[in-house]
Amino acid sequence: MAQSISEQEILNALKVVKDPDLNRDIVSLGFVKKIKIDQGKVSFDLELTTPACPVKEELKKGCEEAVRKLPGVSHVAVELKSHVSSRPQFGQTTVLPQVRNVIAVASGKGGVGKSTVTANLALALSDSGAKVGLLDCDIYGPSIPTMFGVRGKKLESTVDQKILPLKACGISLLSIGFLSDDKTAVIWRGPMVHQIIQQFLTRVEWGELDYLLLDLPPGTGDAQLTITQTVALSGAVIITTPQEVSLIDARKALVMFEKVKVPILGIIENMSYFGCAKCGEVAEIFKRGGAQKIGDEYKVPILGEIPIDPHIVVTGDDGLPIVRAEPDSLTAKIYRMIAGAVAARMSVSNLTLSEAASLNVQWQNK
Ligand SMILES: Nc1ncnc2c1ncn2[C@@H]1O[C@H](COP(=O)(O)OP(=O)(O)O)[C@@H](O)[C@H]1O
Ligand SMILES: [Mg+2]
Repeated sequence: MAQSISEQEILNALKVVKDPDLNRDIVSLGFVKKIKIDQGKVSFDLELTTPACPVKEELKKGCEEAVRKLPGVSHVAVELKSHVSSRPQFGQTTVLPQVRNVIAVASGKGGVGKSTVTANLALALSDSGAKVGLLDCDIYGPSIPTMFGVRGKKLESTVDQKILPLKACGISLLSIGFLSDDKTAVIWRGPMVHQIIQQFLTRVEWGELDYLLLDLPPGTGDAQLTITQTVALSGAVIITTPQEVSLIDARKALVMFEKVKVPILGIIENMSYFGCAKCGEVAEIFKRGGAQKIGDEYKVPILGEIPIDPHIVVTGDDGLPIVRAEPDSLTAKIYRMIAGAVAARMSVSNLTLSEAASLNVQWQNK
């Protein structure tokens, strides 16, 4: 007769599997759910904190191997699931109560590829299975409608006068571009920008989202200030190109988020290098590696380097970003890796903040 096995034995065996980002074993993290034992057949769910987890397949394999080693186990089936973690106080705030994570994508300078990166990251996260929204906060130069091929589309509202975002490529989108046409000279002053952004954050029926990415305008001005005052950002991602002129302004953006206590998830270096498709030679046109300097200075991780790729421009202009238009390209793979890194850093930050908050409660209750 097959040796019977207990749930506890399975959990003990699974303690050897560690999540490399959260730096803890999957059992103490509470990832192992719904263990079923049918004689020698064992099955359970592995519930991660993001469907975009970059190491999910390795974790699954690690689980299978660990349990298979137990005497009496003849078969192991692990199902990957996810429940996206959120910032502490999720659901308790009145602003965006159904949005688990609001992530600002910022840069110091314009033209560094912020909107392009945001659009591709949104699609990569959505492709992994996450519910994603994208709010174009660039009131003066909205480019998201063009990149998603929905220029000129108008928005609808709910019966209680809330704006409904537009659905494109599976993403919930909102942009000032849907409310004013391209030819309207946008000459709004600070207070109006403040009002519009505030409406975008408070009067929109986003529904349930795992990640809402905010494509910020360049700099550290009115829009940034309004956003940080209106909504509890879960994290910020800084985009820069490698040359010094861009880095100087990227530092300013970074310092601004640090000042308002928004966790910096990391820096992405865009237009990092050019790899010739014909000869394979790599040219470091803008001095690759500049972002690492700021990363070292501020102890912030580099989430990835995106090459200069003419296909990025063409696909963006054609209204279907490269992650969807050319999913098998190297550039699309790089965007997916970076999306995984962003999601992983978000999970780490949420766990750290939640643990700090619960320690604080314990301490106060003493
Ligand atoms: N890695 C890249 N390689 C080539 N062109 C890029 C890359 N990233 C962005 N671009 C192009 O650079 C221009 C500016 O990008 P955009 O995303 O609008 O910048 P920002 O939002 O920072 O102003 C666009 O034409 C875009 O297609
Ligand atoms: Mg832009």
